[in-house]
Amino acid sequence: MGGLDCSVAVALLGALVLGAARGAGAVEITVPRDSDITILVKQGAPSLRPCHLFTAKRHVTMLTVKPGERTSFSFTCQDPEKHFVLEIQKNIDCTASPCPLGEVPLQPPAAALPALNRTFVWDVRTRKSTGLELRFSGPRLRQVGPGDSCPDGVTYTISSRVDAAVVKIGTFCGKGTVSRIKLQEGLKVALHLPWFQARNESGFSITNHTAIKRLCIVESVFEDEGSATLLSANYPAGFPEDELMTWQFMVPAHLRASVSFLDFSTSNCERKEERVEYHIPGSATNPEVFRLDDPQPGNMAGNFNLSLQGCDQDPQSPGALRLRFQVLVQHPQTESNKTYVVDLSQERTLSLSIEPRPKPSPRFKAGCFVCLESRTCSPKVTLAPGSKYKVSFLCDDLTRLWAIAEKTLSCSDHRYCQRKAFPLQVPDDVLQLPVQLRDFSWKLLVPRDRLSLVLTPARKLQQHTHERPCNASFSYVVASAAPDLYFGSFCTGGSIKQVLLRQNSSVTLRTYAPGFHSEVPGQGLTVSFVPYFKEEAIFTVTPDTKSKLYLRTPNWDRGLPALSSVSWNITVPSGQEACLTFSKERTGVVCQSGRAFMIIQEQRTQMEEIFSLEDDTLPKPSFHRHSFWVNISNCSPTSGKQLDLLFWVTLTPRTLDVTVITAVVGGGVSLLFALGLIICCVKKKKKVNKGPAVGIYNGNINTQMPLQPKKFQKGRKDNDSHVYAVIEDTMVYGHLLQGSGGSFLQPEVDAYRPFQGAMGDRPPSPPPTCSRVPTAKLAEEKPPPCTSLEPETEPYTFSHPSQAAGSNRATHVPLLDPQEPGLPAE
Ligand SMILES: *[C@@H]1O[C@H](CO)[C@@H](O)[C@H](O)[C@H]1NC(C)=O
Ligand SMILES: *[C@@H]1O[C@H](CO)[C@@H](O)[C@H](O)[C@H]1NC(C)=O
Ligand SMILES: *[C@@H]1O[C@H](CO)[C@@H](O)[C@H](O)[C@H]1NC(C)=O
Ligand SMILES: *[C@@H]1O[C@H](CO)[C@@H](O)[C@H](O)[C@H]1NC(C)=O
Ligand SMILES: *[C@@H]1O[C@H](CO)[C@@H](O)[C@H](O)[C@H]1NC(C)=O
Ligand SMILES: *[C@@H]1O[C@H](CO)[C@@H](O)[C@H](O)[C@H]1NC(C)=O
Ligand SMILES: *[C@@H]1O[C@H](CO)[C@@H](O)[C@H](O)[C@H]1NC(C)=O
Ligand SMILES: *[C@@H]1O[C@H](CO)[C@@H](O)[C@H](O)[C@H]1NC(C)=O
Ligand SMILES: *[C@@H]1O[C@H](CO)[C@@H](O)[C@H](O)[C@H]1NC(C)=O
Repeated sequence: MGGLDCSVAVALLGALVLGAARGAGAVEITVPRDSDITILVKQGAPSLRPCHLFTAKRHVTMLTVKPGERTSFSFTCQDPEKHFVLEIQKNIDCTASPCPLGEVPLQPPAAALPALNRTFVWDVRTRKSTGLELRFSGPRLRQVGPGDSCPDGVTYTISSRVDAAVVKIGTFCGKGTVSRIKLQEGLKVALHLPWFQARNESGFSITNHTAIKRLCIVESVFEDEGSATLLSANYPAGFPEDELMTWQFMVPAHLRASVSFLDFSTSNCERKEERVEYHIPGSATNPEVFRLDDPQPGNMAGNFNLSLQGCDQDPQSPGALRLRFQVLVQHPQTESNKTYVVDLSQERTLSLSIEPRPKPSPRFKAGCFVCLESRTCSPKVTLAPGSKYKVSFLCDDLTRLWAIAEKTLSCSDHRYCQRKAFPLQVPDDVLQLPVQLRDFSWKLLVPRDRLSLVLTPARKLQQHTHERPCNASFSYVVASAAPDLYFGSFCTGGSIKQVLLRQNSSVTLRTYAPGFHSEVPGQGLTVSFVPYFKEEAIFTVTPDTKSKLYLRTPNWDRGLPALSSVSWNITVPSGQEACLTFSKERTGVVCQSGRAFMIIQEQRTQMEEIFSLEDDTLPKPSFHRHSFWVNISNCSPTSGKQLDLLFWVTLTPRTLDVTVITAVVGGGVSLLFALGLIICCVKKKKKVNKGPAVGIYNGNINTQMPLQPKKFQKGRKDNDSHVYAVIEDTMVYGHLLQGSGGSFLQPEVDAYRPFQGAMGDRPPSPPPTCSRVPTAKLAEEKPPPCTSLEPETEPYTFSHPSQAAGSNRATHVPLLDPQEPGLPAE
C-alpha cells in the first residue's frame, strides 16, 4: 500500500481543509478522485443533548464524501465528538491487479481530521485462493470479547470473507500477544481511534501469502510469562460451518504453556466431528486430537499450534460451535529449575545424549525438554566432548528421559597399551544427572591381531541367565564389535573373575534403577590389554560354595557364532569338588561345515575329554576336583540348528580324600592292566601336549579340522585315549573288565553312537547324580605300551590325537597345529 498510495496521501493532505472542528466553525473535506476513499460523518453513540450536522445549510444525519468530492459541514454543538463519528473507508481490490503491500498508512493522518472518533476501514478483496497476512509491527494485539473495550479506546476489528459472507475474526486492543493474522479471500480491518488520539500510523502492514487453506491463522508470540484469551471466529455466534481456524503460539523454550477452554459450545454435526488438534513439539503422535470437552494439554514447552475444526451441521438445528480459551505461559511449576554442569572439556571421546525414552504414551503428555544454558531447549540433546555444559530440564516427569553415553578407549600402539589397565568408570558429572543413565558404553578398540582385552571386575560378576536372572540395579552388557556376537549381560554378585575378549568389543553399563551407583560404591570394571588370543572369549570363574553357577554360551538362543570358540577356566577351590552339569542332553547343532566340539580338560593333569557336539550326547553331570577348562568350538551350523549351551557348576566339600591309584602291577589282572594303559596314556598325553590349546581353533582353522566320526573312532582304537577324571570308578573298571573278558558288571547304556561299532554296544555312562564320588586318575611313571590297548578302553571319551600315535599319525590332522599363523603374539 505504502509506495502505491503515497501520492494519494499527499494529495489528500493537500486537499484537506484543516478547519476548526469546534463549535459552529466549518470543516471542509476533499477526497481526491482516484483515492478509493470514502469518508462518512455519522452519528455515534446516542446522547441526551441534541447536536446537529449541517452541510450546505441543510440539516443532515449523515454525510458522505466520495472520491473527487469536496464538502464542508458544521455542527450545532460545542462537543461534536460526543455525537458524531468519522468513518474512513478504503477499498482495495486485488482481484485484478496485485495488492499494494507493506506498511499501511493512515489516510488522512489523524491531525488532518476533525477531532471526532474515527474508524479507518480497509477492505481488501482478493481472489479466493490468495492469502494475506496482517503484521502488527508495533505493540502486539490482545483479543477482547464482544462488549469489552480497550483502555486507550484503540481497537482493531478484523474480519474475513467466506464466499462473500463476512466472518468476524475478532476485536483486538494493543498490548497483547497477537503478532500476525493470516487470512484468505480478502480481509477487512477497522481501526477505531478515539477523537483525542493523535496517532498517525495504522500499526500494521499487509503482505501476501500463499493460500492458508483455512479461515485464518492467528499467531501469538510470548516473550515472557503471560496469558492470552482468544476466541473462535464470530464468537459468541457460531463458527462458520465446516471451517478450520488455527492459532499458533511462539513460546520461549524455557517457559511452559497450558491451554484451558473458558467457554465453548458445539453444534449439531451431521458429518465429521468438531474437534481441536494440537501440534506440539516433542509429541510423537502429532497432531494430538482432542474433543472440546477433554481436558486440554498443559505444561507444553516450545512453540505449538491449535486448530479448531468445524463440521457439517444439521441444517434443521445447526447449533453453534464457539470457543473461548486461554493460553497461560509461565515458568515451569512442577520441577525445579536446577542446573547441572556436565564438564566434558577434558574428554576426547565421551559423548552424552539425553533423550526421550522410547515409550510412546497412548495419550498426549506435555513436552519434556532438556535445556542448555537454560535457553535452548529441545526434546533431545547430545553433548559432544571438549566442552562444558549447563544442563537443565523442562519436564514434569524426568522418568520420561534417559541418558546414553558412549566413550571410546582405543589402543593404537600395542607396545604402549600392553598390560596397561584402564578403569571403566562413569564420570560423576554424568552420575549426578537426575535422569536415568540408560547406557554408558565403552568401545574398546585394539589393533587387529595384536592385542586382546581383559575385563576385570572389582567384584565378581554373575552372568544373567533365565535360571538365575540378574536382579541388580545395573549390569554390564558385553558384546563384540563383530556383528552378531553378544557375550551376555553380567551383574555383580557372581563367580566370574575375568572376561577375556578376543577383539574390539563394547562394554555397556546399563542401569535399571535410579541411584544405581549407590548400590555398588565405586563402580568397578577395569580393562587391560593382553597379547592377542584366538578364542572369542575366555571366562575365568571361581564358583561359589553357596550357589549354583550358571553359564551360557554367547549370543543366547541365536547360537554361538559360526566357527568361534569360547573357553571357561573354572577354578575348583581346594577341599571342594565341582559338579558340571549341562542343561540338555544334546546340543541340537547341525553343522554345515566344520566340527562343533567341546573339550573338558583338567588343568593340573592336562587330561581332556572331547565331545562332538553334533553327534554326542552332552556329558552327564561330572565331578572335578581340580580346576578345569570347558572349551567349546562351533562349526558353521545350518540355520536354525544353532549351538547354544547352558551349564552349571556346583561345589560340594570333598567327601573323600584323594583316591589315588598308585600301584600298577604288571601281569594277568585285566583291571590292573587296563589301569596301566590309562596311566600310560595320561603320561603320554602330558608329554605330547605342548601345542597350543584346541580352543584357539576358530575361523577357518576350525572348519578344516577333520574331526569326522571315523577319526574319533580311530583315535580310540589306537588307544591314543586317556580317561578324564570324571568317570566313576566302578563304571570305568567295570567296563574295562567286561571288555577284557571279565563280568564285573553291566554298565548303563549311553546314547553315544559313533563309538558303538568297534567296542560293543554298551558304553558305560557317567554317574547319574552328583553325589557319587569320582575317581581321580593319576599319571604314573611306568607307562606300559599303549599300542596294544583294546578299543574298549575308552567307551565314551575319545582321544586327543598326538604325534606319538604312530602309524596313524598321517591320518590325523592334529587338533593342534603349532605352526598355525596367528598364534598369540608374545
Ligand atoms: C468515541 O470513542 C469512545 C471510546 O472508544 C467512546 O466511549 C465514545 O462513546 C465514542 N463516541 C461516540 C460519539 O461514539
Ligand atoms: C507519526 O508521528 C511521529 C511523531 O509523533 C513521527 O515520528 C512519524 O514520522 C509520524 N509518522 C507518519 C507516517 O507521519
Ligand atoms: C507476493 O507478491 C509478489 C508480487 O506480486 C509475488 O512475486 C510473490 O510471489 C507473492 N508471494 C506470495 C507468497 O504469494
Ligand atoms: C502447526 O505446527 C506444526 C508443527 O510445528 C506445523 O507442522 C504445522 O504446519 C503448523 N500448522 C499451522 C497451520 O501452522
Ligand atoms: C527458577 O524458578 C523460579 C520460580 O519458578 C523462577 O522465578 C526463577 O527465575 C527460575 N530460575 C531460572 C534460572 O530459571
Ligand atoms: C578394531 O578397531 C581398530 C580401531 O578402529 C581397528 O584398527 C581394528 O582393525 C579393529 N579390529 C578388528 C578385528 O576389526
Ligand atoms: C537378588 O537375587 C538374589 C538371589 O538370586 C537374592 O538373594 C536377592 O535378595 C535379590 N535381590 C533383590 C534386590 O531382589
Ligand atoms: C585360570 O583361573 C585361575 C584362577 O582364577 C588362574 O589362576 C589361572 O591363571 C587361569 N588360567 C588361565 C590360563 O588363564
Ligand atoms: C582350553 O582353552 C584354554 C584357553 O583358551 C586353553 O588354555 C587350553 O589349552 C584349552 N584346552 C584344550 C584342551 O584345548
